[in-house]
Formats: sequence, C-alpha cells, structure tokens
Amino acid sequence: MSAPDFAAIRREEFAGITGAIYLNSASTGPLPARTVRRVGEYAALRASPFQMNDHDLFSELDRARELTGRLLNVSPGEIALAFNTSYGLNVAARGLPLERGDIVVASDREFPANVYPWMRLAERGVTLELVPVTPEGWPDEARLLERMADPRVRVVAVSLVQFSNGYKVDLARLSARARATDTFLVVDAIQGLGAVPVDLAATPVDILSCGGQKWLLSPWGSGFVYVRRELIPTVEPVVMGWMAFEGTDDFTRLTDYDPHLREDARRYEMVSLPFQDFAGYNTSVELLLEAGVANIAGHIAALHAPVLEWAARRGVRISSPTGAHASGILCVAIPNAAEAYKAVRAQGVTASVREGAIRLSPHLFNTADEMVRVTEMLDRL
Ligand SMILES: Cc1ncc(COP(=O)(O)O)c(C=O)c1O
Repeated sequence: MSAPDFAAIRREEFAGITGAIYLNSASTGPLPARTVRRVGEYAALRASPFQMNDHDLFSELDRARELTGRLLNVSPGEIALAFNTSYGLNVAARGLPLERGDIVVASDREFPANVYPWMRLAERGVTLELVPVTPEGWPDEARLLERMADPRVRVVAVSLVQFSNGYKVDLARLSARARATDTFLVVDAIQGLGAVPVDLAATPVDILSCGGQKWLLSPWGSGFVYVRRELIPTVEPVVMGWMAFEGTDDFTRLTDYDPHLREDARRYEMVSLPFQDFAGYNTSVELLLEAGVANIAGHIAALHAPVLEWAARRGVRISSPTGAHASGILCVAIPNAAEAYKAVRAQGVTASVREGAIRLSPHLFNTADEMVRVTEMLDRL
C-alpha cells in the first residue's frame, strides 16, 4: 500500500492542532475533523430521535466490529465492543478458567489497568507475579518467556507497548511460546494499535483489549475486546448484557427469554453502547485504514529520527528502545525532565512526563519540522 499524503491529512483533518505542537497521542489522540462532524451529526439526529431507527444504530455497531476485524486481521465475530480498555482486561481476569494455585505473570511497571484486575484474583487464590524490569526499565521478555514453562503459570498479561517508555513486545515470540506452553496470552493494546501494525492471524493471542481514545483517534467511550474464537465457549461472561443472548434482535418479543448466549463475542457486550461514539470510532478507524497502519508506523519512525540524532549528538539519554522494540512513543530522559517539560510547554508543546522522561508521542498528523523545533527548544534550556 503506497504512502498517503500525510501533509494533506494534517491540513484536512487536524486543523484543530495547528498553532500548537501536539505530541501527546499516548494520552489522548485528537479527533479528526471528519470524526467530529460524524459525532455532531449523531448528536443532531438525537435532538430529533424520530429521525433515527434501531437498524441504523445497530448497523453502526456491526460496522465497528467489521472495521476492528480488518485492523487486526480477525473475524468480526471475535470482537465485542466496549467502552474502554479496562473492561476487556476484566473480561479476561474474571472470565478465564483460573483456579486456586494458578499464577498470572505480568511485567512490573505495567499500566495499572493491566495489574489491578489480576491482583484482585488473590481472593480466589490466584497469584499475580510481577516480573522485575530490565536495567533499562523495560519488560524482561526473556524472563516472561521462561516463566511460561512453569505449568502453574496460566496467563501472561502484557501491554503491546509500555505506556512509560514505549517498549513494544515481540508479540510473535510471546505468541509462539504461549501456544507451545498452553498459556493464555492477554494483551493491552491501547498504546500501540493505530500506530503499530498488528496481525492476529499471523501472531495469535487469546484476548486483546483496546480503548479508542489514544492512537485510534476515537471518542472516549469507544473500544473493544477481541476474544479468540476457539476460546469464546471457555471465557465466562462475567456481566450480563441484555443483548448478549440469542433472540434479542427482535424487539417485539423481548420477553420470550432465551437462555442461550450468543455464539460470538457479542456475549461480552454491555448494550446499550454509546452509538455516537462508535459512529466516531468507525470514521477514525476508516481514516487509519485508508492511510495504512504500516505507513503510519513508518511516518512516526521518521519523526523520531531527528530527536534520536539530536540526543546522540548532545549525549541525552533516550529511555525508549530503538530498533525492533520501538513504537510510537519516544521518551527523552533529559535531566530535570519535569522542569524541561514546563519550559517547552510554555512554548506550545504538549507531551507528558513519565518516569523521569519527557514522553513524545507523535502520530500521523505530526511533522519532522515540529520534532526539530522541540529539540531546538530543549537545546536552549
Ligand atoms: C497501557 C494502558 N492501558 C490502559 C489505559 C487506559 O485504560 P482505559 O481505556 O480503561 O481508561 C492506558 C492509558 O490511559 C494505558 O496506557
């Protein structure tokens, strides 16, 4: 797929960030103009609900499952729509068949959304083991792989990309080992999806959860959880949505209760869902698919380059990996990072400070010129 015209995308879809240097998609991705329009159209319709019908609402959800399936190269029937990342991680923690004595392994310093649901399983006698990070502060993948050989380790829960340093796991390696050792592989994908290509047909995982609000450039309240088809009969839905059951599509016969859960991942959905947010999600995901996630990843890597060159020249430590484990996040561990960030913030740069570094998270709308300007600001401190 040939590279899109990123400058045109910026001009047409991201006028809202011009005048500022927005390098913070790892916190909140900006909504493209077409998404803002779509959500607005929904709100306008909602002012006169007689203009809407059930079919339109539910076909929006069908489209969201279909587009998500395309993004991950899986079938729409393996997608349950959800309102954030945490929901899907709870589906995993509460729904996987874990028993007293089982161990869940995760890396230390994971984002808490991927820690607390597992920690709470202590009440069922399931232990969460946090594997210490490497001296660089990254997940110790070799150790995670090693721990999978222990038959008590039933789950490995990882972020696709670490929120605080951008470390991207080797999903192919984890996936292969998880298959070989019969360990459940659960992935929090919110810091990667949209900026990092993911192909679950090539690198299968068991459960993957993602909110739309960051790299997917989608409204708060949109997101999904993927559950591998073969696992759907095994992962117990822990909360019961009224549309999780067969027979609820016919709204004229809702009280003909049917105890059969849907065969597909909709058994995990908690309808009603925010239809206007999924209309926005669909519009944003279409934009990402049009641009091509591999192209976006290439664009972002090119944006990182001037910062990496500057850091090498100035002897500033980069706390993010480069090479195979690089992602959209680039962390500059400049001394007194909080103070340094305050100074660049005053000059119109929005990023974040995480674990003693300035976290830059450029996306498809950013330019190399913006990155160079940030290095110049840092130079003048
Ligand atoms: C790795 C990771 N997981 C999850 C979240 C957020 O979870 P949720 O979508 O449930 O708010 C974040 C950031 O806010 C994150 O960085």
